[in-house]
Parts: sequence; structure tokens; C-alpha cells
Amino acid sequence: GKEWTDVSDLVGEMVGSEVLIRGRVHTVRSGMFVILRQSGFTVQCVAKKSEETKVSANMINFLKELSDESIVEVIGVVSLPKDPVTGATQQQVEIQVRKVYCLSRSLPKLPLIPEDAARSEADIEKSEKDAAKRTTGRRKRYVRILQDTRLNNRVLDLRTPANQAIFTLTCRFKYTFAELLSSKGFIDINTPRILGGSSEGGSAVFRFDYKGKPACLAQSPQLYKQMAICADFPRVFVIGPVFRAEDSFSHRHLCEFTGVDVEMGIQRDYTELMDQVDHLFLPTFTKINEMFSKELETVRKQYPFEPLKFHEKTLRLTFEEGIQILKEAGVEIDPFGDLNTESERRLGQLIREKYNTDFYILYRFPLAVRPFYTMPCEDDPRYSKSFDVFLRGEEIISGGQRIHDPEMLEKRARECGINVETISTYIDSFRYGAPPHGGFGMGLERVVMLFCGLDNIRKTSLFPRDPHRLAP
Ligand code: 4AD
Repeated sequence: GKEWTDVSDLVGEMVGSEVLIRGRVHTVRSGMFVILRQSGFTVQCVAKKSEETKVSANMINFLKELSDESIVEVIGVVSLPKDPVTGATQQQVEIQVRKVYCLSRSLPKLPLIPEDAARSEADIEKSEKDAAKRTTGRRKRYVRILQDTRLNNRVLDLRTPANQAIFTLTCRFKYTFAELLSSKGFIDINTPRILGGSSEGGSAVFRFDYKGKPACLAQSPQLYKQMAICADFPRVFVIGPVFRAEDSFSHRHLCEFTGVDVEMGIQRDYTELMDQVDHLFLPTFTKINEMFSKELETVRKQYPFEPLKFHEKTLRLTFEEGIQILKEAGVEIDPFGDLNTESERRLGQLIREKYNTDFYILYRFPLAVRPFYTMPCEDDPRYSKSFDVFLRGEEIISGGQRIHDPEMLEKRARECGINVETISTYIDSFRYGAPPHGGFGMGLERVVMLFCGLDNIRKTSLFPRDPHRLAP
């Protein structure tokens, strides 16, 4: 009937009281000192052989045998440490052990090379000893092996404080965003993930057999969120898994990620969509910075990053202006082509230098680089009513106004090489009247990665799926 005490609650005022703690064995030293870990907090437990404590030689042997990461319950008395405790978060107190039960034993040898697991990639960069590994090719390989080791043993890897913080932040980000959307009259809907045709076109689609019919996994909720608008839901959002059969192995592409999609009616023009970006992101960033600074600090300790710079009103530049900035810096670029990762990043640097911000919008993209459903500009149909949002020089959102005329939509789909038969029910939904509308989509893992200045999207996916990885 005894209640558990959380390690994080152990403080000096509790000296003298008996507590029951459950946690993992972080380390054991000479059978006498066990550092116990629970939810990222650690406390030192001391087993002293004596009449009073009832700690026997047997118990000391038992403790010596405990492998790291085993789950134990300790009953003990909170006391003041004689010597300063090092290597524990709760330094004011230690636990005088009375009884210890092992609930679940860990294998004695951990697959993570402990030295590597404990060190951040930034530490590796700094370390003198690893100078050889810094020559790009070898260092890259080393970081890759380290990452693979972590991902192959993801359950263990996820126990580290930085990872615990990353997924807490991801959850907070999603909820904050969803609450803001909800407060602005957007309703949370779900859309099918099993589709009869691809939603974004292109080749990056997983195909399979659906009871004898060709089917594919949704690359986005795009077509269905638009159909919800045609069904008179004025503002909707969808948060859920989406699938892309990416070929390339990149730092920012997954084969399965969490899509956050927004769609709404437009009253005057598509700048209303960009206004929503301001209304949604700026309060989310502020809230995360203010309310979850502890988690951000924990991530930063393992993966140092600079706080995000953003303005009260997000900088908006046309795609043409972006191209101009790149040109002025001597970057050769096709004014009607898309930006690649390298030019995006270069532009990000240049914008940071010029405007002192890490968060900005580029709008009015060339029509040719946007999906078939994108509305062309009336004044110059080589351009489209579309935009991308960038965080630290990388795309996190793409959005725009959609074509709501069914004839025009069908024509554009054909021009883009889409088999319109596979999306006929989508096009038909516009035949009974459809309002001007638009929206945007983003990848949650990518946003959190860039917010925290992380170098790889696998760090923000609990169990990432990429072209080479299907387990764990
Ligand atoms: O740019 P994308 O493909 O746009 C759409 O899906 C549109 N339906 C959105 C819209 O409403 N017009 O994807 C949107 C976002 C990207 O900006 C990026 O953040 C993320 O989704 N994303 C990925 N994240 C992880 N792995 C991938 N393979 C991703 N592909 C896109």
C-alpha cells in the first residue's frame, strides 16, 4: 500500500522519511552505490551493511550483479549525503537503502557503445582525439554509423534525456497548433489514407493491391481536405501519417511522416493563407520558448543550437525577389525552376544576414514547379498563387490557393500527366459549386527538427521510416 515517490520530487525537506522509488539502474559502483534513474532524473542510493539498515552481504552481491538499465524498486530512507553527490540530478539527498527488488533485468551488455551514446555529435566535432574523423568523408561515415547504431537500438536510444525532450516538444507543438486552429474555427477531420489514385502526382507513391483494385497510400490529405471544403466545412485541419516513397536518402525526407494540413475558404485573396501562418506559428513558437524552455535546454545540451530568430510579422518575399537575392550573391539559378536544398540554404543565410530572421515566406512560385491543383496568377499565368514557408533556410510548409473550377482543374491535371480517371470523384466534387479556397501542409517532424536546429529528421521521428529502414 506504499505510494511511489518520483525521483524528481526528492528534496532536502524529505530527509528522514521512508520512500518507495521505481526506476532504472543508471550505474552501480562497488555494489554500494546505485544511481537510480526515472524520467531523466537521477538519485544516488547507498547500501550500507549494518544491523540497523538490515543490508546484508548477500544484498551487496545482488546489487553488484545488477545490470545497467534493469528496472528496480528501492525502499529506503531519504538522508543528507556525507560527501557531495556527483553524477545525479538530485544532489541534495541520497537514499539509504533498506530493500531492493529487481522487477526486470536488462541484458548485461548494452548494444550502444556507451562512450558514443553519452557524447553528442557536437562533442565529437570538438574533440581533439577525433581530428582524423573530421575529414569530411570519414566523419560523415562515423556520424552515420553512430546514427544507425542509435536507430537500430531505438528503444534504448529514446531513453536519453535529449530524446525524451524532443518528443515532449513534438507533442506540445502539435497540441498548441491544434488548439490554435480549433480556436480559429478550424475543425479537426480525418481523411482516408488508402486511396485509389495519388494525391500529389509524381512517382513518390506506395502502391498496393486493394482487394483486386490498384490503390496507394496517401501522400497527403490534399484532395480530401479540399472535398471537405466542397462539402461546406468552412475551415478544416488534418493531422496524421502520410506516405512518400522517397528514393533519395536525405537528412529531411522520411517515407512516413506526420502531415499537418490546413484548408479554408478564401474571401479576397490568397494572402489570407499567409496571414494564418502568422496567426498560427508565431504564438506557437513563443509558447514553446516560454513554457518548454526546460525541454529546449535539455535538447540544446546534447545538440547545441541557436534560438530561432523571427519577426512579429513574418517577412514575405516573392519568389522572384528570392531569386534576385541569390543572383546578387553570384548563385546561378533558373528563374522558373524550383529551389534545391543547397539554394534554399544559401538563400536562408542571405536572408538572415539581410533581414535578421530565420522564418520567412516566399510566395508567387512559378506554376511549373507546383502541383496541378494550384491556382495560376491572373496577371501572369507563368506564376501561381502559392507560397512556401522556410525555417532556418529549409522548407517547412507549402501552400496556396486551389483551382475551384472543375474544367480548369481537369485540364491542369491532364497537362501535368495525371490519369484523371483515378481522381474523377475529386474533380466531380467541384461540379456542384465550390468556393474559392486554399491551404497549406507541413511535416511535423521537419518543423521540430528545424526549430531545434537538428541536422537530421530521423532525430524527430520516434521510429523513422526511410528508403533503407523498416525496423524497428
Ligand atoms: O510540399 P508538400 O509535398 O505539399 C503538400 O503535401 C501539399 N498538399 C500541401 C498543401 O496544402 N498545398 O508537403 C508539405 C510539407 C513540406 O513542406 C514538408 O514540411 C513536409 O510536408 N514533407 C516531408 N516531411 C518529411 N519527409 C518527407 N518525405 C516530406 N515531404 C514533405
